Amino acid sequence: MYFTLLVHVVSLAPAKKQVKTNKKPHHPDNMDIRTVATTPFSDQKPGTSGLRKSVTTFQQPHYLENFVQSIFDSLENYQGQTLVLGGDGRYYNRKAIQIILKMAAANGFARVKVGQRGILSTPAASCVIRKYKTLGGIILSASHNPGGPNGDFGIKYNIGNGGPAPEKVTEAIYARSKVIDSYKILDGSDINLDTLGESKLGEMVVEVIDSVHDYQELMESLFDFDRIHQLLTSSNFKMSFDAMHAVTGPYARSIIEQRLGAGVGCVQNGTPLEDFGNGHPDPNLVYAHDLVEILFGEYAPDFGAASDGDGDRNMILGRKFFVTPSDSLAIIAANAKFVPAYSQGLAGIARSMPTSQAADRVAAALGIDCYETPTGWKFFGNLLDAGKATLCGEESFGTGSNHIREKDGLWAVLFWLNILAARQQSVEEIVREHWRTYGRNYYSRHDYEGVDSERANTLVKNLQVALPNLKGKKYGAYEVEYSDNFSYTDPVDNSVSTNQGIRIGFTDGSRIVFRLSGTGTQGATLRIYLESFEGDVTKQNIETQQALGDLITIADEIAQIRENTGMDKPTVIT
Ligand code: G1P
Ligand code: ZN
Repeated sequence: MYFTLLVHVVSLAPAKKQVKTNKKPHHPDNMDIRTVATTPFSDQKPGTSGLRKSVTTFQQPHYLENFVQSIFDSLENYQGQTLVLGGDGRYYNRKAIQIILKMAAANGFARVKVGQRGILSTPAASCVIRKYKTLGGIILSASHNPGGPNGDFGIKYNIGNGGPAPEKVTEAIYARSKVIDSYKILDGSDINLDTLGESKLGEMVVEVIDSVHDYQELMESLFDFDRIHQLLTSSNFKMSFDAMHAVTGPYARSIIEQRLGAGVGCVQNGTPLEDFGNGHPDPNLVYAHDLVEILFGEYAPDFGAASDGDGDRNMILGRKFFVTPSDSLAIIAANAKFVPAYSQGLAGIARSMPTSQAADRVAAALGIDCYETPTGWKFFGNLLDAGKATLCGEESFGTGSNHIREKDGLWAVLFWLNILAARQQSVEEIVREHWRTYGRNYYSRHDYEGVDSERANTLVKNLQVALPNLKGKKYGAYEVEYSDNFSYTDPVDNSVSTNQGIRIGFTDGSRIVFRLSGTGTQGATLRIYLESFEGDVTKQNIETQQALGDLITIADEIAQIRENTGMDKPTVIT
């Protein structure tokens, strides 16, 4: 107790003036600015979604500072501009925010809008960047990765459209991080992040903003809140939302419980905790098991949903019914006419390559384009900006639209609520009707986590070697139609992204996709995506793993998964 108290007192005390070695005394703005000499770290290459490492990695002296300075150094004309800053509330969030604020001040930003208590969900950060037309924003999160002192931390830069920095920017940041030799930081006391309002850090204004307000206003402009309110306050509809002790708690409480009338108790685990209550804040059937038990238990509510660490993912459940994210995207698209902001029609749909082709069928029926992009939300940015796509989705529990430039967990939940309110049918009825109309894409992802990196690379290399000889090969009833390593040419800026995952397509439209995760922090994670199509209504009720049984066997035969990973089954099946 004494120790905790002591630490507290020390951190509240005004920061000690440090010895200023490189002070430039003749420039008044440089009064408290220190230029700190540093040496590069070789591992600051942003992955699928920013730089993610263990907390202990980030706690190394200069580690965070080097990366932040590399971001600033890669931007043009940032002086005098506004930056948005916030994170998912995980361990090290507050500390990192204080450091970044002082670095932003030292580097000449005019203003930083920071979420109260350091909290901004990823979609809320994207919303604030767009609404206030700021230069960009820094989001502190390792998304669904566990938190706490032994967990992960992460940082990513979003550009002025509110979306993740495109590859040319992340590459510039990485290149800078490899040669960086100094960073700038202001000596000053910590900012009070708990109270709304403005204060000064050197010449820079720090504005502590309500984390929820702007985002809630945006949601209200998109959906039929009156209709959803009626649904949520009617006696024959119950829902349960699991915030997994992560960032969406305050958002869901304000929007779903209060504004939409679901009432206190609808949101479970609604207080963001630094270690997410020791959980793994990933809304899927494995990690959101509390919610799954409720929805598959006796007296199950009609609707269940969960969101991840930083609020951009979602899981949708009906009573005793799971909606795959790929189906969710397709169903959202097919029912967009019920939602005010989308009722005028969709420009197009975009999905990541491993996501099932269910959305393609809806796009075809609607007579609109469907784009297939590499994994990662950053690839949707150009399509959204150019007005080519309205809805986007990934199989990894990510769905979103042109309202922001990130995937958006609560948005997807509200979209479903809007559909349910308009159609007055159950989740299961809506999904089954969808399958009857469009056919069912059976779909599953098998993850092998914590695989030795070398073994995982060998597996991919072997596959790569085998690729050219697979066409025409027969595996039981399946014949390979094509096999390639997915490469994407952005239709807007013509940039090319290669090596985005190995695809093996069969003549009946089934697919197996292999790729290595770009977000993991320990060893390698091998992801295998399996998909088959069933148009016959009488065969649409088979258990998913059983329906995909043959493809699962074929995947192992082609990639020698068990032998190469040393594991006899996946660690996570979704
Ligand atoms: C994973 C998902 C991907 C998502 C990303 C960030 O990346 O597969 O769809 O965009 O997290 O949430 P991966 O680990 O597969 O590289
Ligand atoms: Zn996330």
